Amino acid sequence: MPRNAQWRLVARPEGLFKPEDFRWVEEDTPPLAEGEVLVRTEYLSLDPTNRGWAAGGTYLPAVPLDSVMRGLGVGRVVDSRAEGLAAGDAVSGLLGWQRYAVARSTSLARMPDVGLPLEAHLGLLGHIGLTAWVGLLEVGRPKAGETLVVSAAAGAVGSLVGQIGKIQGMRVVGIAGSDDKCRWLTEELGFDAAVNYKKRPVLAGLRRECPKGIDVYFDNVGGATLDAVLSLINLRARVVICGLISQYNATTPVPGPQNLGNLLVQRARMEGFIVLDHLDQAEKASADLIRWHLAGRLQYRLDVVHGLEKAPAAVNRLFDGSNSGKLVVGVSEE
Ligand SMILES: NC(=O)c1ccc[n+]([C@@H]2O[C@H](COP(=O)([O-])OP(=O)(O)OC[C@H]3O[C@@H](n4cnc5c(N)ncnc54)[C@H](OP(=O)(O)O)[C@@H]3O)[C@@H](O)[C@H]2O)c1
Repeated sequence: MPRNAQWRLVARPEGLFKPEDFRWVEEDTPPLAEGEVLVRTEYLSLDPTNRGWAAGGTYLPAVPLDSVMRGLGVGRVVDSRAEGLAAGDAVSGLLGWQRYAVARSTSLARMPDVGLPLEAHLGLLGHIGLTAWVGLLEVGRPKAGETLVVSAAAGAVGSLVGQIGKIQGMRVVGIAGSDDKCRWLTEELGFDAAVNYKKRPVLAGLRRECPKGIDVYFDNVGGATLDAVLSLINLRARVVICGLISQYNATTPVPGPQNLGNLLVQRARMEGFIVLDHLDQAEKASADLIRWHLAGRLQYRLDVVHGLEKAPAAVNRLFDGSNSGKLVVGVSEE
C-alpha cells in the first residue's frame, strides 16, 4: 500500500483558518477490507463550507478533531476489493484532504466519461453545477425578461448562475470584488453588467444597473449586500439564500438585514437551500450543464493551487476574494 499524506484538523477555527488549526501527517495507507477501494486524489475542492465543517454548528456534523479534514475530491481508483469499481475508474466523493483515501465503494460516485477533463466534475458539474442549477431554476424560478442579480458572481457558483440566467433570457447583473472579475463577467461570460462592490457602494451600482428593479437575487454573501438588494426588490421577487460568506468568519454576532420589511411590502419570498437535499436531480442538472457547455453557452474557470501542502493557506483565498472561478488543489494531477 502507498504512503499517504494528509492534513488533520486539530483545532476549531476562530476567524480565518490559521496554520496551527491543521497538522500534516504521513503514514502508510491501511490494507483494504472487503467492499473498500483505494483512491488516489487528483483534485481536491476547496469550499467556503469547509469553514463551517471545521467549526461546527452547520448542516453536517463538525469534523472530529485529529481526523483528516473533510473535503470533496475527484480521483482514480488504484486498488479495489469492491464490486463495481476497478483500478482506473474515476470517482468523486468526500475523499478528504489527503493523497490517498480508503473508502467504502458505496460512499463514492463513479464518474461517467462525459468527454470532459476530470476536474470539470468540480468546476462545472458535481456539487457546484448542481447548486447553481437547482438554486436558480428551482428556488429562484426565473422568467425571461426578469432581472437577476448574483453576488460573488465571479466565483464558482456565481459565474454559472449568471450564465444560466442569460440562457433563461434574463437581464443579469453580477456583483464582484475587482475590476478584472467584472470585466470577465461582462466581456467573456455575457453578463449585462457588473458592479465592483469594493470600489463604490453596491446600492448605487445596483440602482444604476437594475433600472426595472430586481426580480431574482441569488445571494452568496449575505450582510450589507443582501440588505442593499432587499431595498430594490420587485413585487413577488425571489431571494435565493445560497450562502452567506461575508459572515462565515465572524467572531461576534452579525446584524440582521434592516430592509427585511420590503419582503412584506413586495410580497416577496426568501428561501434557503442545501445542495445535498437535491442529489436526485444531479443527472438532470448535469445533462443540461454539459449540453450548454458543449454549445458554448456555459463556461467554467478553475483556479488551481498545485500541491496538497498548500491547502490550509489556499482555503483562505475564498474569504479574501483572491480566487477567480472554482478553487481546487491539484493533489496528483493526471
Ligand atoms: N447552499 C448550498 O448548498 C451551497 C453549495 C455550494 C456553495 N454554497 C455557497 O455559495 C457561495 C459561493 O461558494 P463558491 O464555492 O462558489 O465560492 P466562490 O464564489 O468561488 O468564492 C467565494 C467568493 O466570495 C466572495 N467573498 C468572500 N468574502 C466576501 C465578503 N466578506 N463579502 C462579499 N463577498 C465575499 C469572494 O469574491 P469577491 O472577490 O467577489 O469578493 C470570493 O471569491 C458561498 O457562500 C458558499 O457557502 C452553498
